[in-house]
Amino acid sequence: MNIEVILTPAELPALKQRALSNAACVVFDVLRATSTFVTALQNGARAIVPVSEIPEALARRQQQPDLLLAGERDGVRIRAAQSGGIDFDLGNSPREYTPEKVRGQTIVSTTTNGTRALRAGAGAKTVLAASFLNLGATADVLQRLSPAQIVLVCAGTREHTALEDVLAAGALCEMLEAGSSRSGDRTVPRAVPAQFSDSAEMARRTYLQARSDLAAAVRISENAQRLLAIPELRDDVPFCLQRDLFPLVARLEADGAIRALATA
Ligand code: MLT
Repeated sequence: MNIEVILTPAELPALKQRALSNAACVVFDVLRATSTFVTALQNGARAIVPVSEIPEALARRQQQPDLLLAGERDGVRIRAAQSGGIDFDLGNSPREYTPEKVRGQTIVSTTTNGTRALRAGAGAKTVLAASFLNLGATADVLQRLSPAQIVLVCAGTREHTALEDVLAAGALCEMLEAGSSRSGDRTVPRAVPAQFSDSAEMARRTYLQARSDLAAAVRISENAQRLLAIPELRDDVPFCLQRDLFPLVARLEADGAIRALATA
């Protein structure tokens, strides 16, 4: 099992060109896109369709009027002024995606980095949306699938590397290395040791260094700083750092929609 980490958004165009037919791609946008998508699925959303641009989201809604429009620019919900007249139904805060709002709904979402990273990895055999909220469930399904190649994609913040994504990717590397499961007490001896690229080793070591106080490490990140400065969004940061709140695997399927994967 060869494991590598895409650390910056600048590497996404090259990822799109790569032959990933025997690879699993795991996309992290801890603050906040993938955390939000996992929360929405846990709260009963039927599917999330990640798109890169606002016009794409509007076009989907035109085709399917019962779709919920979701997304952010500069961290806040997309408004009529940005969309040519339509206020989006939801922003990108996981705390907005309550069962009352999303149960049974299909949501089209456009965010600055997360949805682009998901689109860039879409050519892989398996594409998963991951976060700290569902890290253990994601590790379990990867152990079970044992793909030859695993590409962990850090979505980033604007054009920069996002520390919180690297920490989550590093935590997953550590779990795959140890062969540990969600509860951490059951270690599955690995038949074939995991081979880490340098970027994966960097992520793993960054996580090992920070794991005793992840919140302190993430608090200084560019996007955490931005969210902590917005009163109605500051609670998103501790929310997204909760570990294994949801025993759920989120998979991007061939039709471009992310759905909860039946893992049991
Ligand atoms: C993104 O996709 O860039 C982030 O999720 C944005 C955010 O939620 O702040």
